[in-house]
Amino acid sequence: MKIAFVGKGGSGKTTLSSLFIRHLAANEAHVIAVDADINQHLGAALGLDEAEAAALPAMGAHLPLIKDYLRGSNPRIASAETMIKTTPPGEGSRLLRVREDNPIFDACARTVRLDDGDVRLMATGPFTESDLGVACYHSKVGAVELCLNHLVDGPDEYVVVDMTAGSDSFASGMFTRFDMTFLVAEPTRKGVSVYRQYKEYARDYGVALKVVGNKVQGPDDLEFLRAEVGDDLLIGVGHSDWVRSMEKGRPSRFELLEADNRMALQALQDAAEDSYELRDWERYTRQMVHFHLKNAESWGNEKTGADLAAQVDPAFVLDERHAGAGATAPA
Ligand SMILES: Nc1ncnc2c1ncn2[C@@H]1O[C@H](COP(=O)(O)OP(=O)(O)O)[C@@H](O)[C@H]1O
Ligand SMILES: [Mg+2]
Repeated sequence: MKIAFVGKGGSGKTTLSSLFIRHLAANEAHVIAVDADINQHLGAALGLDEAEAAALPAMGAHLPLIKDYLRGSNPRIASAETMIKTTPPGEGSRLLRVREDNPIFDACARTVRLDDGDVRLMATGPFTESDLGVACYHSKVGAVELCLNHLVDGPDEYVVVDMTAGSDSFASGMFTRFDMTFLVAEPTRKGVSVYRQYKEYARDYGVALKVVGNKVQGPDDLEFLRAEVGDDLLIGVGHSDWVRSMEKGRPSRFELLEADNRMALQALQDAAEDSYELRDWERYTRQMVHFHLKNAESWGNEKTGADLAAQVDPAFVLDERHAGAGATAPA
């Protein structure tokens, strides 16, 4: 299951991602957490101290390794240099599994010990607003997109991405890579405006989008959100003293999180599971090809000097049949 948290800066993406990740771990799910937010705070929100968070490897710094590994023996991808962030897998490509060990996880993932189990954390590494605007083959967030496009995930396996939604994620197709996108919105006009923009992109691609109200203070706040986003409103999360005391450097055990907030997290998991059941792998593959062709034409061919449309393996569908550890896509 692939899940994104998006929203305005300060809305609570990182906070809710981290709570959701803790909740999944408490439910014995297998989790890879990915920090792709412009402000890299997910590690800290998961309890890493400053030194541990600073020591996290940056996916952006390992792009050549990521590309080389995923390319495998795919004859349609001549070199890692011609592999752009939208290059889809095909026969011979290596696929990723949430639970396996592989060179990409060795280089880019670190195990984070939570109260209720371990998760793996990956981080893009710091980037700036200007990085988000450019359609670039060495884009840091592109490393995440490549991994998502090569990842075969089962129902009890979660990838949770804390994400900044820039124009890049719309142009590249990143925003279509998730079974569920949780748009975190404070009950303000600004919070809701991000929703409207996202919704517009999402509509054409059948992206499952739910609004999670955050810092909701009462029925008025919920009513406001309901009026603005209608049925897309999944739930409202209130102020959490648990979160606040964590921010004071006095973390308490996750089981002590407020009951209302625990229920909200369960509602998020239920919504994600319902949506995963509707996953259409063929459509999922088709969409990655669509965005690859778009990127090839608009900048990729020129940048690499290759015809990147030729990278598409027309017969290939990413799906659960490619289930083995360290799986290679069969002919
Ligand atoms: N439900 C909540 N209860 C208490 N504090 C919250 C809550 N949601 C967010 N915060 C606080 O608001 C600030 C911004 O949240 P953060 O998750 O970093 O936002 P984002 O990742 O969207 O920029 C943080 O200091 C965070 O602890
Ligand atoms: Mg954040």
